[in-house]
Amino acid sequence: MELNLLVLCYLIGSVTFIVGLKMLSNPASARNGNILAAAGMLIAIIGTIFLYEENGQKLGNYTWIFAALAIGSVAGTLMAKRVQMTAMPEMVSLFNGMGGACAALISVIEFRHLVHTSDVASIDQSSLLIIMLGLIIGTVSFAGSMIAWGKLNGSIKDFAFKGQHIINIVLLLMTLLLAGHNIINRPEQMELFFYGVVALALVYGIFFVLPIGGADMPVVISLLNSFTGVAAACGGFLYDNKVMLTGGILVGAAGTLLTILMCKAMNRSLQNVLIGSFGGGTTAGGATQVGGTYKEVTLSDAAVVMSYANKVMIVPGYGLAVAQAQHVCHELEKTLEAKGVEVKYAIHPVAGRMPGHMNVLLAEADVSYEKLLEMELANEEFKNTDVVLILGANDVVNPAAKSDPSSPIYGMPILEVEEAKHVIVNKRSMKPGYAGIENQLFFQPKTSMLFGDAKKALQDLLAEVRNL
Ligand code: TAP
Repeated sequence: MELNLLVLCYLIGSVTFIVGLKMLSNPASARNGNILAAAGMLIAIIGTIFLYEENGQKLGNYTWIFAALAIGSVAGTLMAKRVQMTAMPEMVSLFNGMGGACAALISVIEFRHLVHTSDVASIDQSSLLIIMLGLIIGTVSFAGSMIAWGKLNGSIKDFAFKGQHIINIVLLLMTLLLAGHNIINRPEQMELFFYGVVALALVYGIFFVLPIGGADMPVVISLLNSFTGVAAACGGFLYDNKVMLTGGILVGAAGTLLTILMCKAMNRSLQNVLIGSFGGGTTAGGATQVGGTYKEVTLSDAAVVMSYANKVMIVPGYGLAVAQAQHVCHELEKTLEAKGVEVKYAIHPVAGRMPGHMNVLLAEADVSYEKLLEMELANEEFKNTDVVLILGANDVVNPAAKSDPSSPIYGMPILEVEEAKHVIVNKRSMKPGYAGIENQLFFQPKTSMLFGDAKKALQDLLAEVRNL
């Protein structure tokens, strides 16, 4: 009876993960999807703690289990409440690293259990295979995520040396060979070799992420996230635990899909992200020199053009997130709408620095989801738009992606803002964005620059619009 109840808990957990994940794909249902999946996870955890039995024995160790749960819950809640939107990728990386470490620790515990309770030569090889897989993937994910976390918070600098990729390949091969030797030959010194695999996987994880440019970290984190999912699924195989298996496979698949989507939206291959230098903070070469003269717009002129427009499209970018200007942006939108102007937002899939960055940012400021247009829809509407207001976006509106085959972003789908009648660009200077390249849009006759920090510029613009 109790076992059936546990199976039911796992079934509920698995179903809520799938439904929750589906709900995450729409901003309107994302919050509830998250809560639903978390509730399913809670049911699976509570069920395991109180209902799981092996040889007629319950888990026990309740003081340890609940002390760890309490510490983890308090730390997780505080971190999630305090995190700044701009530091979100950092926190995801840290949490992902913890997941990888958990999966690796499961392998360590199960391995020790096996070698200390049975004769080494008689250990089941399929169990060893799963243990080794979980160990390597989990350890690489842990080490890599910690480096990504350090890079994003600025405590670890990009580091690369000549031939590093060769060393990485050698390290990976050595890790796999040693693990393979343990599985196939089951040598006497298996335990020693096992910790050798741990050490090699740790070093590989560090070296794998160290040379990748800090700005490419979101893609790397998404990839490492899929690793953690696969490592957790290995734990599911090991324990024959369906909910762990389902959760791990879902995380693995979602992380892989997200990695592919991010690469596609940037028109770069995963290989280019992992071993290319693009996004490493240096100016990417190859693009045709652009330049000429640009014109500035005054706050009062910008306010007039926008207030008397029929339709204004706002293009948010990384600069809006850095300036935390989403609330004042929403105020401007409401003020313009009160004057009879139709205001919408054009959202590029890789605007900002993490998937859904702009959606989350604008949702935080209570911008209605119906006002957010995905790239394809926005591109259809630009030709009927009077004013496009670009707020701290650069690469995602760079026409070189369409017109300049020598540009590093050539082929990346962009927001075709130059189709609108007027384009106002807010940024602090003429400096390039993430890809390190200049933007011809800023020099076009219909474009005017509104220099300044996005929050300050929007506050001043709002005051001008209100005075009209
Ligand atoms: P970027 O091309 O990075 O441009 C952002 C612009 O914001 C900069 O040119 C900067 O110019 C301006 N800025 C910075 N701080 C500002 C502030 N306080 N106020 C006003 N402006 C400010 O951003 P984007 O157009 O959003 O494009 C995103 C880029 O990130 C793409 O190249 C994409 O491939 C890459 N990327 C995205 C993701 C995801 S998933 N979103 C993941 C990895 C990489 P100034 O310095 O002159 O102010």
